Amino acid sequence: MAEAFDAVELIVEKREGRPLSTAQIDWLVDAFTRGVVADEQMSAWAMAVLLNGMDRREIRDLTLAMIASGERMSFEGLGRPTVDKHSTGGVGDKITLPLAPLVASFGVAVPQLSGRGLGHTGGTLDKLEAIPGWRADLSTAEMREQLRTIGAVICAAGAGLAPADKRLYALRDTTGTVEAIPLIASSIMSKKIAEGTEALVLDVKFGAGAFLPRRELAEELARTMVELGADAGVRTVALLTDMSTPLGLAVGNGVEVTESVEVLAGGGPSDVRELTIALAAEMLALAGRGDEDPAAALDDGRAMDVWRRMIAAQGGDPDAPMAEAREREVLTAQEDGVLTAQDAKAVGVAAWRLGAGRARQGDPVQAGAGVLLAAKPGDAVRRGQPLATLLTDEADRIPRALEALSGAFRVAPAGTPVPDRPLVAGRIAAGSEDPGTR
Ligand code: URA
Repeated sequence: MAEAFDAVELIVEKREGRPLSTAQIDWLVDAFTRGVVADEQMSAWAMAVLLNGMDRREIRDLTLAMIASGERMSFEGLGRPTVDKHSTGGVGDKITLPLAPLVASFGVAVPQLSGRGLGHTGGTLDKLEAIPGWRADLSTAEMREQLRTIGAVICAAGAGLAPADKRLYALRDTTGTVEAIPLIASSIMSKKIAEGTEALVLDVKFGAGAFLPRRELAEELARTMVELGADAGVRTVALLTDMSTPLGLAVGNGVEVTESVEVLAGGGPSDVRELTIALAAEMLALAGRGDEDPAAALDDGRAMDVWRRMIAAQGGDPDAPMAEAREREVLTAQEDGVLTAQDAKAVGVAAWRLGAGRARQGDPVQAGAGVLLAAKPGDAVRRGQPLATLLTDEADRIPRALEALSGAFRVAPAGTPVPDRPLVAGRIAAGSEDPGTR
């Protein structure tokens, strides 16, 4: 078949900062998916996008072209509204685990297609796979049945969803082009729109442990994704949330499941509970249930009931104890004072080096590895008191994890003020914006 365009021409257009037409973008994505545009050409084009950007129409065209590269799911006919949530990823971010059953406990369907982790932020599937027997791979029919009967499903995204994104993401990962906002926004939203959810809440993080640490960039990403959602008819709201310090006290796989279960039982660390409730309130509002009180369903066991059914339906034993790491090392405070800083990125890297995360796709992860924090910023600490416990099955991983934590915890003299950083720092919805205060 004669090709309508030439890859080199389209790379040069972007290199010179000129917008591509809808037809050019459609061709590029389709030709790349068919192998007509080579990996090195697509990588060069991605770098041109990183340097010169794309306008709103181009980003929408790119998103639609990536959706068109694969299958499109639909959850019509379930008899329940569907709402999903996506987080740009953070250290200790286990919110999906309590959130999906919590929202489902109000009769809303939550189809969570999740991924495995790469790098210092963990993946939702890795966490759930710490539960003995639990399986991530469901057929579309199984997923639909679980949504109809239980309302919540967290499972692996099939290979058929936006395959162009999968290939492009793998190239970006190895060519220094991950951080391009048009590419991130179209990558995330193509999968969410193809998944067929009617509404979507985005948790876009900024701060040391986030994928985009600079708040202005996180805000721009949030706005771009909200616009893409609106253009595709998916009601979308984004919360901007602070990821300077880890969420909760547990960072790892099994330990994050345990902490999530504490939240589902009405307890758990206050920041994990606060963000779970804030995101649930947004999801319920988008599903037309804005007058419901999500906190009540954590406190009276309704969310826990859905969690237990959701885990059991996927082969997991909700009562099974989590695997315990064979080795542990306690890091203690060197002086009395107040904990003023706890660097999220450093804690994430330490957990990763202990075996909670993987360096390459397909590597195994340890269910019991991770970091258990013993204090939060603002807490008084005494010399010799534990600040964190490192967990791993392999003792030789501990020195490198300790290296990552060097300087991560700062203790200042008692009385030193610790800035009060709101966890939910802003909210962005189509046509209205409250980016919050700085
Ligand atoms: N997550 C995605 O799915 N895509 C990106 O580009 C970045 C994060």
